[in-house]
Amino acid sequence: MHVYIVMGVSGVGKTTIGKLLAERFCVPFFDADDFHPLRNVEKMKKGIPLEDEDRKIWLQTLSEKIQEWNMKRGAVLACSALKEKYREQLQSIPKNDISWIFLHSEYEIILERLSSRKNHYFKPELLESQYTTLQIPQYGIHVNVNTSIENIVKQIMQKLDKESRKSKIGLMGLGVMGKSLAVNLASKGVTVSVYNRHVENLEVDIARKFAEKHRENYHFSGFDDLKLFVESLESPRNILLMVNAGKAVDLVIESLLPMLQKNDLIIDGGNSHYKDTARREKFLKEKGILFMGTGVSGGEEGALKGPSIMPGGSSEAYERVGDFLERIAAKDKQGNPCCAYVGPDGAGHFVKMVHNGIEYGEMQLIAEVYHFLRFHAQSTPEEIATLFELWNAEMQSYLLEISIDILRTKENGESLIDKILDAAKQKGTGGWSTNAALELGVPLDTITAAVMARNISGKKEERIAAEEHYNSLASKNDISEAFSEELFEAYKAASIINHAIGFDLIKEAGKEYDWNLNLSEIARIWTNGCIIRSAFMEDLVELLKESSEGNVLMHPKISEVLEEDWKPLSGTVGRALENGYPVPVLSSAANYFLSFTSGQSSANMIQAQRDYFGAHTYERTDKPRGKFFHTQWKPIKE
Ligand code: 6PG
Repeated sequence: MHVYIVMGVSGVGKTTIGKLLAERFCVPFFDADDFHPLRNVEKMKKGIPLEDEDRKIWLQTLSEKIQEWNMKRGAVLACSALKEKYREQLQSIPKNDISWIFLHSEYEIILERLSSRKNHYFKPELLESQYTTLQIPQYGIHVNVNTSIENIVKQIMQKLDKESRKSKIGLMGLGVMGKSLAVNLASKGVTVSVYNRHVENLEVDIARKFAEKHRENYHFSGFDDLKLFVESLESPRNILLMVNAGKAVDLVIESLLPMLQKNDLIIDGGNSHYKDTARREKFLKEKGILFMGTGVSGGEEGALKGPSIMPGGSSEAYERVGDFLERIAAKDKQGNPCCAYVGPDGAGHFVKMVHNGIEYGEMQLIAEVYHFLRFHAQSTPEEIATLFELWNAEMQSYLLEISIDILRTKENGESLIDKILDAAKQKGTGGWSTNAALELGVPLDTITAAVMARNISGKKEERIAAEEHYNSLASKNDISEAFSEELFEAYKAASIINHAIGFDLIKEAGKEYDWNLNLSEIARIWTNGCIIRSAFMEDLVELLKESSEGNVLMHPKISEVLEEDWKPLSGTVGRALENGYPVPVLSSAANYFLSFTSGQSSANMIQAQRDYFGAHTYERTDKPRGKFFHTQWKPIKE
């Protein structure tokens, strides 16, 4: 049912209006004053203002009553509810089940009304303190009572009607992801207004047609007029942007701003750069607008059936819309939503960026193994699919799973994979991870190697010319069953290292930016819905609970695997290189692992060289850290 709370300072007409509304709705009317404990009534009679401590039990009683009324016929309650924290306490039932009706007017008008009241224990002198205490709600229906009673009730009824037709969330940008998320939201009972811009001859009536298409199952309000779209949303507004990352996000924000009010919220669900997100949040905060940069992973299908969601930015905003996001998110094995507040400012988009970085690494790993099998061992796509299927019994990796489907897809009886041009495209998020690692001064070998592999793949013509020039270094040979097992172990080891590298970057960024990130929780929201979900991600949830501070590679369970798989990894890399096949991610995983486990690195030579030509100084092994030395390596000749 529904509870209407008529609120405002004393003398504003809560009881009169509340009773009339209760009649209209055929529900009982209650006056919150009737629930005060005796000692509060006494205090008020004596003209002593109530303290928060006095209100505590009273509000508790009321919040229990509200739950009770909501379970029965609903109710109208007249209650001053002057402070936000009182209202929060009264909000003991789902937000949608309460309508706040805020009656207000100027102090002088109410004072005059109160002074003419008889038989009421409220002393007019208390009015001033009520105005001081009053925190105007940023939501609900606001009606100025300086008009006739009939008019007040009429206004409330009109606004309530409008309000009930308003959407909980507005979604802008009906590309594949936007459309799928809109349907997902609607299927979970969230009312959605959708907007798509109008571009002559290109994007015409997109939102209206979308609403029409789904008319049988869901109600969408579709707009290509921004003002009408914004007006169709419940206040404070929640607007989800599903537009292309980059300039478009700024342009949309700019066009929305004049129509927004304090406490309205913009959620950017695209793959935006985390620094843009941090900038936008700061900029909007100054204007009283909330902003959340939210990573969404899972492609079109995920968006429709349940993506992994990585919200960052305003935590206050997450409290408001977290419920919607969690409703549409994929569920983990325990049935919990694969959506959790990640951290402030750009944290959500940073984490999504690294997700994509790991994704690049995993994709390239599979591609390298496929490439070696297809061209060196000359296995057919079907044979490789069968092998991958075996591997995936253990790996349970979504990317391996789709690769199996890809390898089995035929066109006119021939494998489609053989017809696809070997030049990879990218939208940049993998490379952004590399930039972030460079800025933070942390290693990112596998992810960077995967980005570079895409870059060199783009030089198709040059590669063909170079292959001819060097008379192709790639050899062909059958591979033994033992080697295909070794290949699996190598793939597994490199995948573990690739994940460890990604999580290390997240950990370092969390420290640098003070984001207080929970790595295990990040792994948990990646166990379903997203592109890098796998059995290993499930393991990481537990591993990271135990050792969130160190590197994943130091966990005993991981070292057990890597000690065994190191040989297959290095052997595979050696074999691939010897036979003329590039394995950039496999080899960078191997190199990273060796560098990570080498107590003695080669950097003493680097330091000496730097000092030699640039007097950059060096630290010594026989002296405490932090002391720097310079050697005059060779006298400089005049
Ligand atoms: C996801 C994907 C998604 C998208 C990438 C692809 O998590 O759902 O990562 O965000 O597919 O943007 O990126 P590239 O075009 O750079 O490969």
